Formats: sequence, structure tokens, C-alpha cells
Amino acid sequence: MLVSAKDMLQKAKAGHYAVGHFNINNLEWTKAVLLTAEELRSPVILGVSEGAGKYMTGFKTVAAMVKAMIEELHITIPVALHLDHGTYEGCYKCIEAGFSSIMFDGSSYPIDENVAKTRELVKICAEKGMSLEAEVGAIGGEEDGVIGVGECADPEECKMIADLGVDMLAAGIGNIHGKYPDNWAGLSFETLAAVQELTGEMPLVLHGGTGIPDDMIKKAIDLGVSKINVNTECQLVFAEATRKYIEEGKDRQGKGYDPRKLLAPGIEAIQEIVKEKMELFGSVGKA
Ligand code: G3H
Ligand code: ZN
Repeated sequence: MLVSAKDMLQKAKAGHYAVGHFNINNLEWTKAVLLTAEELRSPVILGVSEGAGKYMTGFKTVAAMVKAMIEELHITIPVALHLDHGTYEGCYKCIEAGFSSIMFDGSSYPIDENVAKTRELVKICAEKGMSLEAEVGAIGGEEDGVIGVGECADPEECKMIADLGVDMLAAGIGNIHGKYPDNWAGLSFETLAAVQELTGEMPLVLHGGTGIPDDMIKKAIDLGVSKINVNTECQLVFAEATRKYIEEGKDRQGKGYDPRKLLAPGIEAIQEIVKEKMELFGSVGKA
């Protein structure tokens, strides 16, 4: 069954590892992430962006698919189904659809309205046993077709939002969605340390997990990051594996055109990435 991300992230924080948040984009993606997490006995967070939710015909479809898949595949590790970069309206749709966790990205509102809406969602999530992620500072790059300019979080604002009672906090520390530019300045560990200093036991979230060097990931975990989001890297390897299959003409051999065969290399490629990340994050065997 689905669980909120609260307990798994508190355990991760205490155990100095991170839980992977892998965005799902369809049935095959979901199956790939769940089977890998079960095989590695790792807790896992399935992230669903507003755009992916729409693509999969709505959050109710996604929730029903994930719940049924957990049952049919006999998944026993803790799984959280999490709205990623949620709008205020999207949060309520996911609460109604049966998600177990939501992110309210209130950065587009004036701070007092962001605080008011966050307070309201904290109350509702507590009543429903769901977890709530908030964001402070902006994560740069492209997410769901939206291009943003990153800005490092203000540690004082992080403490204010953390004190509202959210369960996890995404602080902008120079991380970017999508591929990192060659001239990327790296993560601001100074900002991360300052945020950690003020927010204490709060599990911190690192968005834009694609392409961050392993040593930076490990340092971020040491400095309090307990959830790391990955999407683009899985999309890139899926596309590459599918392209290779077609370039090798395998879609024209026998029934190679069958989507169950055509999509298989991409699914295996996703599973490889998920395995690599869970080993890097230290969540293997932590279920
Ligand atoms: O919220 C989703 C993640 O931040 C995705 O980041 O596509 O750069 O791995 P990424
Ligand atoms: Zn993100």
C-alpha cells in the first residue's frame, strides 16, 4: 500500500542516506521503478509532475494504476506517490485522487500568500496522513516545459517555512532541472549548510538530480539531504536505448514492432539508472 514520505525520510535523515524520488511518465516507467526498488529492498518515492499527470489522463488514473500495480506485483517496500512541483489546485486534485504525498510549489505567490496556503495544506495533509514538501528559492532549468532561473534559498526563509510543519523542504542551492551547463558553478554547500543549521531534523530535498557528480551527491547527503529527485536521466537513457533498438532494425525482426518488445530496452535502461542511484544514495536494503 502507499505510505506518506514522512517516516521514510525521517529514517533516511537519521541514517544519513537519501531516498530516491523518480518521476514516472507512464505504466512502463512505474513498473520499472517499483520492481527495482523491491529487488533492492529500498524505499521509493514516485514523483508525478502536473504535466505527467495530465499526460497519464489525470491524477486519479495515476493513483489507481500505482495502487493496483503495487498489489499485482506484490510490492512490499514503502512507496510514496508524490505530486511533484504541485500548483495549489493540483495539490487538492491529488489529495482527492489518493496520493500519499504532495509538493506545494508556492514560489510564484507573494511570501505571505505562500505561507497562508502552505499552512492550510499542512493542516489537511496532517489530517489525511499525507506528507507535504515545500520549496524555498527557485530551482533553475526546465521542468514540465517551464524554464526557471535558479536562485539560492534564504536560510531564514527556509526556517520560517520549515516551522510551518512541512515534512520536507526543497532549498534552491544552485541545482538545476535537466542537463547541467558546462559552466555550471556547482552546488552551494555553504547555503545547504546554513539551511541545515537552521532547520535541524527537517529532511531536505535536492531537485535536479540528473548529472550531479557522485561526490557532490554524497556531500549533499552528509549535509542533510534525504530526498533526491531524478527524472531527465531516466528519460535520456530510455530514449537512447529505444533509438538503438530501432537503429539496429530490431523493430523489423519478427514481431519486434510489438510495444512490449519495442519498449523493453528503455525499461531495462531505466532500471539500471534507478539501481545506480539507489546504491549511490545509500537506500538499498533500508526498506
Ligand atoms: O522534480 C523533479 C526533479 O527535480 C527532476 O530533476 O530532471 O534534473 O533529474 P532532473
Ligand atoms: Zn524538481
